[in-house]
Amino acid sequence: LPVPPMSIRFDPAGGTLQPEGPTLTRRMSDLEGLFRDHAAWEQAVADGDPVVYSVVSSRVPEVERELPQSITTIQPGSTAGELWMTKGHQHPNHQGEIYLGISGHGGLLMFNGTETEWVDMTPGTIGYMPPGWAHRSINVGDEPYSFLAVYPGGAGHDYGWVLEHGMGRRVLAGETGVEFVDYSAD
Ligand code: PA5
Ligand code: NI
Repeated sequence: LPVPPMSIRFDPAGGTLQPEGPTLTRRMSDLEGLFRDHAAWEQAVADGDPVVYSVVSSRVPEVERELPQSITTIQPGSTAGELWMTKGHQHPNHQGEIYLGISGHGGLLMFNGTETEWVDMTPGTIGYMPPGWAHRSINVGDEPYSFLAVYPGGAGHDYGWVLEHGMGRRVLAGETGVEFVDYSAD
């Protein structure tokens, strides 16, 4: 059902939307097949299966011509050196999307099947995903990283695309900062 014109409050400190819609919690066990080191991933699942990120949505439905929003909060951490991240997805119909950095320090990794792009995300940065670029978010800091996403309601989430094609590069915690390693090095 469509929603009426409305005001939606976002609380930058709490990373919440009011009135709130559905909330999604992704634990380590939900990220199967995404980390380079499968054994380390299994161990992390066995060691308490931590929450890696959560997504709170407004009440705007994911329906064609609507414009839903959500706030993702990724916890700081790494598994065998690979920084904690979202699953990543492609929009089946190749629609664009924007993210707005709210708190913490992250990155927006984009992959079009050939090229990889990286946008450093700090509070106030708008990251733009053009049509056809799969996207994944990574927490590169030591506190939670939160961002607002605004996307076409009919965009959808193709997670299988990332499992099949990867994201071009992996994002690791290096000695002096973030390091990138090609998927071809797996
Ligand atoms: O619409 C988006 O791209 C975001 O809201 C993501 O869905 C969110 O960050 C979670 O990532 P993923 O859907 O890849 O698990
Ligand atoms: Ni998206």
